[in-house]
Amino acid sequence: MKYQSIRGTRDIYGKTLELFNFVENICKKNFRTNGFSEIKTPIFENIEVFTRTLGTETDIVSKEMYNFKDKGDREISLRPEGTAPIVRAVVEHNLIQNNVDKKFFYIGPMFRYDRPQAGRYRQFYQIGAEIFGNKNSFLDTETIGIAVKIIKDIGLKDYSLEINSVGCNHCRKEYIKILNNYIDNKISEELCETCKKRQKTNILRIFDCKIDSCKNILKNAPKITDHLCDNCKKDFSEIIDNLKKYNIVDLEKLKINKNLVRGLDYYTGVVFEITTQDLGTQNAVCAGGRYDNLVGEFAKETIPAIGFALGLDRVVEILLNKESIISKSENNIFFITTDKEKHSQQILSNLDFIKNLREKNYIVQYNSDSKSIKSQIKTANDLGSNFAIFIEADNKFTLKNMSTGIQNIYDKKEIIENFEKIINGK
Ligand code: HAM
Repeated sequence: MKYQSIRGTRDIYGKTLELFNFVENICKKNFRTNGFSEIKTPIFENIEVFTRTLGTETDIVSKEMYNFKDKGDREISLRPEGTAPIVRAVVEHNLIQNNVDKKFFYIGPMFRYDRPQAGRYRQFYQIGAEIFGNKNSFLDTETIGIAVKIIKDIGLKDYSLEINSVGCNHCRKEYIKILNNYIDNKISEELCETCKKRQKTNILRIFDCKIDSCKNILKNAPKITDHLCDNCKKDFSEIIDNLKKYNIVDLEKLKINKNLVRGLDYYTGVVFEITTQDLGTQNAVCAGGRYDNLVGEFAKETIPAIGFALGLDRVVEILLNKESIISKSENNIFFITTDKEKHSQQILSNLDFIKNLREKNYIVQYNSDSKSIKSQIKTANDLGSNFAIFIEADNKFTLKNMSTGIQNIYDKKEIIENFEKIINGK
């Protein structure tokens, strides 16, 4: 093969694409009923949209961005995530205001130059939601509730909601002093070189370190969750109480994870990840949190916000292994000609019949060239058709249920008018 898709990218088709659409539709339904409107932004932006907002010490900005200069010598990045571009867009078009909930959702490809493995791609797809305008624990609970409801609607059962608070600028400043002291006095020599650098540039990022020795050393380090200011503490405990009290998430699935700092710098207050055991190390299928200062990076005044994004590739990977949770809702009919010499004639004289069935939203297919009945049945099975219609003589048709094998003879009108009744045995 002369050319293949680039490492970390892939072609999506067949069952995988069907599942992408299945998940997308569930998300869209939840967003529509919650009053979100869709927004599409370009897949590339000025590099600063990301470098100024995600944090220069984050893995994403320091290692994973696809950056290039365009022909006008502009520094461009393929978007590694959706939140910063949405904020850029809503500020640019004046779509948000303080104290008024404005809700947006988006779907599209994101790009990160990370080591590809199961559930991790260099081009991957996110479906995300962002709510601008208010800051309160009620809205936080509601937003987390939408993410959990989507996961439940998709049919994922073995998930956990991991939650933490990374505090506001005020309490984080105090906490960073405490953490710095702890590191200087106890563990600074033992940290890896990157974490030593992170201590100086962006200390919270040391909790993102993937190296086991760092993870171990940091187990006993002071955690932001235990050093929140009164307001952040109150918000966080209200969110946890609400999630429990109103059955938004099953109690055994709710886990406070004090090490959860998220891999992006813009968060303030509550952060969360929905994880599953089904994906090995790439276990987060959805993640988000509050980011009250990000709008301020693009506008004169900031407006509080919260959001999350679901990793479509990862969710679909789980569903591919658990196919049974998706009900086959579409009827897929295959027309079979019974006279090899008159194949096209038999199809052409039934085009109106086929059109009628398609207008009723059934998928209707047939062979374009003449084949034996046996070969046509094989094609019907390969295409996943659940019904076959054999074109018999005298305007009669045999309708066969491909899974039960039950078949009966009908005329055209009966099938068009009573298809649902016939297939449901009524
Ligand atoms: P994130 O945690 O970087 O957050 O990504 C969100 C989700 O995207 C992850 O939980 C994962 O399912 C999926 N994902 C991330 N990287 C990859 C990859 N290389 N391959 C496949 N899937 C991946 C954000 O991007 C934030 N913008 C979320 C957010 C929205 N926060 C507030 N609003």
